[in-house]
Amino acid sequence: MTGGFFMFNFYHFAIQQALFYSVEILLTFITKIKNNIMIKHLHSVWAYLVLLAIIIAFTNALLGLIANKEFKTKDLRLALFALIFAHIQLLLGFMAYYVSPFYATLREIGMGASMKEAAVRLIVVEHPLMMILAIILITVGFSKHKKKASDKEKFKTIALFYGLALLFVLSKIPWHQWFTK
Ligand code: HEM
Ligand code: HEM
Repeated sequence: MTGGFFMFNFYHFAIQQALFYSVEILLTFITKIKNNIMIKHLHSVWAYLVLLAIIIAFTNALLGLIANKEFKTKDLRLALFALIFAHIQLLLGFMAYYVSPFYATLREIGMGASMKEAAVRLIVVEHPLMMILAIILITVGFSKHKKKASDKEKFKTIALFYGLALLFVLSKIPWHQWFTK
């Protein structure tokens, strides 16, 4: 009886310790990421690829539409590349948000005061909001094009949704800090 009781306590203890250390390792990892400026640079460099991919996919769809071309695998790939690049940028964006000094400012002065500062509002609200909307447009456009019956409709759907997404992205890129740093 006592042996069984001891064993139960031992396993209980071991599991508790394992949990404790897992949480500690996780917290250390999160702190490392938080202090890691790499994420911002990744998001910054990845933005070139995203922008380029959206421009190429949009232009290609527009040309296909105008010239009444056949919708080929190449056309699907170009749209899919832009989608995947944009989805990865979404993840990098969430991480960049968390490590950004603008986020620290938001925590410090609060949402009300942040909204009154144009520079803070751009990074904390406008940029993420419009970029998320742009990525939603791209995702919806890609999903919709697959269900269209005619090649013309496919090109049209991509041109429309990716074109609008491109406008959203161009409107809220923090240009002044992208090229200067
Ligand atoms: C926060 C992160 C993400 C969210 C919220 C998200 C959300 C979505 C949504 C809603 C769809 C559309 C499903 C449909 O209706 O067909 C989708 C599709 C897709 N996503 Fe993401 N995604 C994320 C990250 C990623 C990442 C990191 C990648 C690539 C490494 C990726 C690659 C794809 C691909 C390839 C598709 C399928 C397109 C297709 O063939 O229909 N996503 N995602
Ligand atoms: C299509 C999607 C996106 C594009 C093309 C994009 C592009 C960019 C660019 C070019 C910068 C400037 C980088 C620099 O200063 O060198 C930036 C900064 C930033 N982005 Fe995005 N972004 C996108 C989506 C997002 C999303 C979804 C979020 C958050 C949820 C986000 C959060 C941020 C933050 C917080 C910064 C500022 C980092 C800082 O200065 O500390 N981005 N983005």
